[in-house]
Amino acid sequence: MNATNRHSAPAPHPVARTATGMGKGGAVLDGSGRESEGEGEIGARKSDHLDIALQPSLPGSRADTGFDRVRFEHVALPELDLDAIDLSTRFLGRAMRAPILISSMTGGPERAGAINARLAEATEHLGLALAVGSQRIALEGRGSGGLGADLRRRAPHVPLLANIGGAQLAAGWGVREARRAVEMIEADALIVHLNPLQEAVQTGGDRNWAGVLGAIEALAREAGFPIVVKEVGAGLSATVARRLVEAGVHAIDVAGAGGTSWAAIEAERSADPRVRGSALLFSDWGIPTADAIAEVRAACPQAFVIGSGGVRHGLDAARAIRLGADLVGQAGASLAAADVSTERVVAHFAGVVEELRIACFCTGSADLEALRTARLRPAEAPARS
Ligand SMILES: Cc1cc2nc3c(=O)[nH]c(=O)nc-3n(C[C@H](O)[C@H](O)[C@H](O)COP(=O)(O)O)c2cc1C
Repeated sequence: MNATNRHSAPAPHPVARTATGMGKGGAVLDGSGRESEGEGEIGARKSDHLDIALQPSLPGSRADTGFDRVRFEHVALPELDLDAIDLSTRFLGRAMRAPILISSMTGGPERAGAINARLAEATEHLGLALAVGSQRIALEGRGSGGLGADLRRRAPHVPLLANIGGAQLAAGWGVREARRAVEMIEADALIVHLNPLQEAVQTGGDRNWAGVLGAIEALAREAGFPIVVKEVGAGLSATVARRLVEAGVHAIDVAGAGGTSWAAIEAERSADPRVRGSALLFSDWGIPTADAIAEVRAACPQAFVIGSGGVRHGLDAARAIRLGADLVGQAGASLAAADVSTERVVAHFAGVVEELRIACFCTGSADLEALRTARLRPAEAPARS
């Protein structure tokens, strides 16, 4: 399928209840100008996003993370005890049992409240880290989505990250709102998410992104807690990462292409054929996650880098770490479990951690430091002689 015929816009997703007559804004991530929307309407829209992310009716993005190009050299003599492999690390001053971040997911409707509670309990049980979804609605007092002090009580020992949008910074939010977001959930740091593509392809999205870098710089200088900046599935380039490090951010989450595609999700939501066609055109857009991690690590050798975007399992996590990530984030692939129960989330991430452990074992890596220098197979198959 090429870009031209992807322009022909199929019918909207059957669950896209709010897709018609949508006023300004339409993002599960932040958007602006929704003062006229009621909480129920916003909740329904966010629920649409969850439904589409769980069960897309369109093929979605064909973008490739690039992870499958990374092949470890197998070590048949690991000389290690599989169960003694040390996956522990530290983030935001807290100990973690494995280098996995459950990446930001929606924080609006009641259903999201239950999802956030399950994610928090599983994070605590496994010793991982948790980032919540956008707190814009909660900060505006239009429903908490489980984003209150209760969340911290479910996960008292883990790195917990609050979340606001770069678009809100461009629209005038600053240290006051950032502080409220962090205090609301007793977070250790604040994520600022950058989603310009999603905003650009939706009806009524935020179009003015001028001044976001300056606002991030001011936050990093004045907030008094660490600032983490992330994309949401289109990737951060080396150039952007360098600017963010110079602006004083504590960590960078590349959130590259190959996993959840917000252009594809917005295409499914829209009932307007022109909007759908344009959104679909950009559904493969972005920097493949594997490339983004390697390029950001090379450009910013001292930065704390989170590798995310299309991470499917623990082998992808191992690849991300080998390419230069300090932590590995996953959102979309864990959503189905999060929609069911805490036990399912625990089982899902326990599997991811076990796969990461096996990758360490079979590369002879006793810990994450060793995994970072594990030998890789050459990218190309050897020529036959
Ligand atoms: C249902 C859903 C809701 C999301 N909501 C947010 C959000 O509110 N804020 C944010 O920064 N990222 C949000 N994201 C983006 C993820 O945190 C992540 O960056 C992106 O989905 C890429 O990772 P993945 O390919 O593992 O899903 C959301 C993702 C999903 C699947």
